Order: sequence, then C-alpha cells, then structure tokens
Amino acid sequence: DVPVVVEDVQRRSTTERAGVLADPGFGRHFTDHMFVARYQEGQGWYDARLTRYGPLPMDPGTAALHYAQSIFEGLKAYAQPDGSVATFRPEANAARFIRSAERLAMPPVPEEAFLAAVDALVDADRDWVPTGADQTLYLRPYQLASESFLGVRPAHEYLFLVIASPAGAYFPRGVHPVSVYVSEDYVRAAPGGTGDVKCAGNYAASLRPQQQASELGCDQVVYLDAVERRYIEELGGMNLFFVLGSGSDDGAAELVTPELSGTLLPGITRDSLITVARELGHRVTERKVSLEEWRQGVADGTVTETFACGTAAVITPVGEVKARTGDFTVGDGTPGTLTMRLREALLDIQHGRVADTHGWLHRV
Ligand code: PLP
Ligand code: COI
Repeated sequence: DVPVVVEDVQRRSTTERAGVLADPGFGRHFTDHMFVARYQEGQGWYDARLTRYGPLPMDPGTAALHYAQSIFEGLKAYAQPDGSVATFRPEANAARFIRSAERLAMPPVPEEAFLAAVDALVDADRDWVPTGADQTLYLRPYQLASESFLGVRPAHEYLFLVIASPAGAYFPRGVHPVSVYVSEDYVRAAPGGTGDVKCAGNYAASLRPQQQASELGCDQVVYLDAVERRYIEELGGMNLFFVLGSGSDDGAAELVTPELSGTLLPGITRDSLITVARELGHRVTERKVSLEEWRQGVADGTVTETFACGTAAVITPVGEVKARTGDFTVGDGTPGTLTMRLREALLDIQHGRVADTHGWLHRV
C-alpha cells in the first residue's frame, strides 16, 4: 500500500485548456499531471507520485527500448450529468493489466494500486474531462522495464505510469462505417503468443499490415487465425461482432462474436456489449466465424451488420471489406440499426444517462 504523493504542479490556463477541449482529436494532447511509480526487485513498488506531465529521463540501455518488455491499458473517464466524473469498469482493466504483466514476466501492479493511480490522476485533472457530445478523458496506464541492461531476461526495475488525454472520436469521420482489409500476408497472434494480452509489441507488429491496408484505401486490418488462416479474429485494436438477421426487429437478431481463442484480446467493450445485447433480448453467441461464412452471409442476406468495438473506437460500423479472395460490402454501407442501438445503449450507461444496473461506473 504505497501512498501517492501529490505534487503541486503548474497548470495550464483555463483559456489554453478550453482551446484543447474544443477539438481534442485522439491522443494528441495530454493533461497537466501524470502518475509515476517505481519498482525495484527486493523492494517492490515505491515512490508513487502525481507529478507534472513531462519527459522521462531514460538511459539508452533501458530494457523496454530493446526488447519491448512493455504493456499498457486503455480506459476512459466520462463526465456525468451531475457534474461528477466516472471511469468505466476500471477493475476489468486492472485485472487485464495483471494478466499482461504475468505474460511478460513483469511484477504485477496490484488492483488497488492501479485503481488508486487512475483515480488520483482523474481527480487532479478533472477539469480536463471534456463535456462535449461523445467526448471523454482517455486514460493510458502502462508499465515498462526501466532497468538499463542488455541481457535478455526479465528486468529488475520497472516504471508504472498513467497519462491522460482528452479525446473526441477515434476515427476522424465519427460513426461513418470503416473499410477493412483482410490480411492474408500477416497474422496478429499465434497460439501460445501474446495475442490475448496488451503488450506493446503486438501493436508494433500491426503497423506494416496497417500501412498495407492504408495503401489499399482501407481504415483497418482484419486478422485471421494463424493456423488455418480461415477464422476471423479481430482488428488491430478492436473486437468484431456480426449481426445475423434483422436488427430492426426487437430481439430477432442474433449477435455472433469470435470466441476467445487465446489469440485475441478479451475486450472489455466486447464483454459489456454481450451483456447489454442479451438484456435487449438478443441471442449472443461466441464461436468461430470464418471469412467464408462472413462473405456468404453478406451475399445471402443472413449477415446484416458488422461492427468493431473497443474503448477508443466505442462501436464503429464496418462497411466495405477488401480481401484477396474478393471484396464485398456489409449492408448498404450505412451504419446498421442494431449497431447504432447498441452504441447508444453503451454510451448511455457510460455517460450516466441511464441507471448503472451493473455497477460498471466507478465514481472518482
Ligand atoms: N483488441 C485489441 C487488439 C485492442 O487493442 C483493444 C483495445 O484495447 C480491443 C480489442 C478492445 O478492448 P477494450 O474493449 O477492452 O478496449
Ligand atoms: C483502446 O481501445 O483503448 C486501445 O488501446 C486501442 C488502441 C489501439 C488505441
């Protein structure tokens, strides 16, 4: 139980902050504070403090820079109608952070310490939580091997940090359907690899396929399973859902999402939507979905909608699909009915516009 020292830092002016919050974009601006704690083998976590946001002194031999012993999380703080601020299911992020740490042989940050760090930062920078439609404060906890050592072994020193970034829509075009490219040259994760945790290396490896998608005019990459190259896994930073049947009839549509095969990230948005969709009366199935089933389903009208979901992207409809075996378009290229209904239902909970019946909101 490490006490958090809160330093008195110089804050940016109200005018400067208002300028940023008027059009924050995604991941471009950061708040006045950051949280930092250190770990030393034999001593454990120590020196937890909320300090001024700014550069980290770093030795060129820092292990994380060489071997990517580095993990992260992403969650959001939402302005509530009563003027308070709440984060969404931070305990789930804390639990996933621990799993990621264990996979990368790092000392885990205990759940209470994770929650205390996030709370301390949100509390200090609550003026940075934007109040515009669909705007939030995106929170980025991360942990890295800070020991200067070039041997390949788990480091003996680590940093745990939390930074915060006011955010508007992740995709510049908002809820406009995104186009996706099914990668057949690359895979995201293989059985026994790191696909089910949030480590930095997964995202480094996604950049070349992402570049390839951009060259073909697509927004995102769809990854297939590494073994058969047949089953849909997820996008580089979002999970996928398919709507079978008509989303305009209450309870008639079925939702299908790829099962947690061990090679895809167990998204907290994914998990929340499974619950919300069932409460709205829809059947939700977690199972394998092949590219062929998706294509056939779109062609014969059984797959009516497809959407991607994640903390940063919320829910984003998928429109055009490009694949070596042939391109196709889901629905008429406009956001699907159930996609938009689930999006509203989730945002209503997160922004406190409906009762939080699941205890998902964590008031700061
Ligand atoms: N899949 C990947 C690879 C991700 O990076 C993310 C984002 O965190 C997700 C899925 C969605 O997870 P969550 O809903 O917890 O943000
Ligand atoms: C998130 O949704 O929080 C993520 O971490 C995805 C990231 C690729 C922006």
